[in-house]
Amino acid sequence: MSVDTIISSDTIISSPSTTFETAANFLQTISTWKLVLSLILVGLVYDQVSYQQKKGSIAGPKYKVWPIIGPFLESFDPKFEEYKAKWDSGELSCVSIFHKFVIIASSRDLSRKIFQSSKFVKPCVVDVAVKILRPSNWVFLDGKDHTDYRRSLNGLFTQQALSQYLPSQEKLMDKYINHFINYSKENDYKPRVFFHEMREIMCALSLKAFCGDYITEDQIRKVADDYYLVTAALELVNFPIIIPYTKTWYGKRVADMTMKIFEGCAQMAKEHIANGGESVCVLDAWCKLINDSKTSESEEAKFYHREFTNREMSEAIFTFLFASQDASSSLACWIFQIVADRPDVLAKIREEQMKVRNGNPNQRLSLDMIDNMTYTNMVVKETLRYRPPVIMVPYVVKQDFPVTSSYTAPKGSMLIPTLYPALHDPEVYEQPDEFIPERWVEGSKASEGKKNWLVFGTGPHVCLGQKYVLMTFAGLIGKFALHTNWEHEVTPLSETIKVFATIFPKDDLLLTFTKRDPLTGETIKV
Ligand code: HEM
Repeated sequence: MSVDTIISSDTIISSPSTTFETAANFLQTISTWKLVLSLILVGLVYDQVSYQQKKGSIAGPKYKVWPIIGPFLESFDPKFEEYKAKWDSGELSCVSIFHKFVIIASSRDLSRKIFQSSKFVKPCVVDVAVKILRPSNWVFLDGKDHTDYRRSLNGLFTQQALSQYLPSQEKLMDKYINHFINYSKENDYKPRVFFHEMREIMCALSLKAFCGDYITEDQIRKVADDYYLVTAALELVNFPIIIPYTKTWYGKRVADMTMKIFEGCAQMAKEHIANGGESVCVLDAWCKLINDSKTSESEEAKFYHREFTNREMSEAIFTFLFASQDASSSLACWIFQIVADRPDVLAKIREEQMKVRNGNPNQRLSLDMIDNMTYTNMVVKETLRYRPPVIMVPYVVKQDFPVTSSYTAPKGSMLIPTLYPALHDPEVYEQPDEFIPERWVEGSKASEGKKNWLVFGTGPHVCLGQKYVLMTFAGLIGKFALHTNWEHEVTPLSETIKVFATIFPKDDLLLTFTKRDPLTGETIKV
């Protein structure tokens, strides 16, 4: 060290005012833009270094090719093939978008591990979801609070409860059979896009099951027409702030309007059950549990079925709609397409539908009848396996999580278990890319391979509506098979998968329906 340096550093230490002046002089010599450039450079280097640290040894781009934003632009239009390439790149892979570090787990066992590690992870919702679904909503609960609330809700989806919802659902199915036929007639029975009709029927069926006759036809139509605005508002890539006339603003308006309707329905259900009325929908079943717990000896019943406010009930019912709408619409699109494209499958469904009704096509649905639809149930299950509506479920890491012996997911990162690869695992499902309902016969590899059945997730957040889905779809496809002939126009995009929250045929599903005589199979012109 030279004498000069010692002197100058001495000076710096002994005289702060001189230090300040020197710094000010230095700053004057560099222009503002140089400063900005330097800051950007530091930011860029920090971004890359932080990415490398978090990435560790797992698969993923070597560097963030687009600094800071990462593949943000691609996420506006997610492609199924790109997701698949990512899953194939390694059992753990990563990507970084802005400050979010995202880790994708593609193997069955790692996906299961994540679903079941509630100590380390919780479901990840987009920032704006809290505003749209409201902060008080039960879906944002974690740990014991979540488990307790779930136990309150489980009673609404038992076999016995579901059987109460069937009659009003069936009436609605009859209505939509006629609607689909008339809608096709309007177009001279030439195939037309049915994507929106599928979303509408699913929304209407859910609303009927949840709210029974408390919700009016006009309200059902309004919610069914507008609900897609909620889906659009809750897409993974959206502004976290609600600005008037943007997607999130429209989404919130629809959510508030829908919850207001549900609040009114909850009040009517309370009055109906208090007056000794019969339970025919989810709200009734809920009020009945609350009512019964008041006279129950069980402290547990009193705890789980305490008095819920109308607002609380409306928020919960909204989460059922939110959880069901996109996934059920996806399943509806695929099942109508797949069955139409396979006349042998349709013929077997029809044969079974007549059998379970003892030859009377107008026999009303019951849970026992649906249980006896062995083949139809296999078709529903195979559709869910072949085209799982939900392909990935984002979770967020609450504390550093050792996902494998060599990789720890850092706190704050997004960790995504995938469902599709486990459901296309050739070890459990031979020829996984073929649609084979028979693979589900009792005792088969597929039906025994429970660990691979991740369609509805697993662990504390496993889908609340899974039994409801299987029941509703077996009933629905069975009735359409009996009372309609439907045709699908196959296009080059029919088997291409479009990702819009869940997955859909890229051509939006071109169908036409005609009325069918269930006894002769002949088409009846209306
Ligand atoms: C084809 C239709 C459906 C599919 C494929 C599906 C799939 C899923 C999946 C993958 C999850 C996440 C599970 C996890 O994180 O472990 C989930 C959660 C959930 N589903 Fe479904 N679902 C469907 C329909 C429904 C319906 C009809 C309802 C309501 C009636 C419903 C209610 C819920 C709820 C409330 C949750 C969150 C549970 C919690 O956080 O405790 N789902 N669903």
